[in-house]
Amino acid sequence: MERTLSIIKPDAVKKNVIGKIIDRFESNGLRIAAMKKLQLSEQDAGEFYAVHKDRPFFGELVEFMTSGPVVVMVLEGENAVAKNRELMGATNPKEAAPGTIRADFAESIDANAVHGSDSLENARIEIAFFFAQREIH
Ligand code: TYD
Repeated sequence: MERTLSIIKPDAVKKNVIGKIIDRFESNGLRIAAMKKLQLSEQDAGEFYAVHKDRPFFGELVEFMTSGPVVVMVLEGENAVAKNRELMGATNPKEAAPGTIRADFAESIDANAVHGSDSLENARIEIAFFFAQREIH
């Protein structure tokens, strides 16, 4: 059993498709172990995406991630990290496989509907960034 961090990004929250995205997770064997809606500050978004701080898109990424509320979740299940990445689809929705979340709900590479941890180690770090132990069940 693994846990991974998922974020429904501001574009998808604005589109009112939180439930449709959650349904993809639940219908594919992932459980929601923790969940909350919050507005990221610039500092939150900068820290969360610190690995990208030298990339040319960093400023826009932080601006986008703070442009409205997000829904942050811990997903739990067998191979949760890889399963979530598979359900999300490629970073660029134009390259995302049909039927994936990004193919169905994302507009562009920068406003791409969801985030998912890319390794078990990063999942642990990202879950601890947002949730206390007592919030995860
Ligand atoms: P990355 O970790 O490469 O992708 P993923 O979200 O699939 O793990 O990039 C993190 C986010 O940075 C990505 O979801 C959207 C943004 N981004 C851009 O805006 N432009 C880009 O060219 C890339 C690669 C990412």
